[in-house]
Amino acid sequence: MKKLIELDINDEVHELAVRPDASLLNVLRGELGLVGPKKGCDTGGCGCCSVEVDGKVVYSCMVYAASVEGRKIRTVEGIGTADSLHPLQQAFIDAGAVQCGYCTSGMLMAAKQLLETNPSPDDDEIRQAIAGNLCRCTGYSKIVDAIRLAASRMAA
Ligand code: FES
Ligand code: FES
Repeated sequence: MKKLIELDINDEVHELAVRPDASLLNVLRGELGLVGPKKGCDTGGCGCCSVEVDGKVVYSCMVYAASVEGRKIRTVEGIGTADSLHPLQQAFIDAGAVQCGYCTSGMLMAAKQLLETNPSPDDDEIRQAIAGNLCRCTGYSKIVDAIRLAASRMAA
């Protein structure tokens, strides 16, 4: 049986009926059309579904939507716009850190959290921060370059 809940997503409150066992990822993508978070493994192993809940990155495939009622949820759609990209989004483009793009939203969320707590990370710290996010295309080097580039631009 579905339950009526309110979810605060990207500074907008949505009222919707969800099954108690519906994952946040399925609700974001299937009910709200927020398809930035991707469904990869659906078992907490790849990071491409990452979103923020109260500023902390979580795997949305592993979170029940009903459990985050009243919390602040942010998806990749809420970190920048087409006209005003987040510095990380621009840096990923400029550094050529996107190939198929499937991992990109999760990488951006992990990198955003890193730079909010550590504005000048070294490469080891960057690699550690994205260790929970799998990329099958880039070999990670350009992603690390992009995060370093964004950090330098944000510090300037
Ligand atoms: S889809 Fe959620 S961790 Fe892989
Ligand atoms: S760009 Fe394809 S999985 Fe990372």
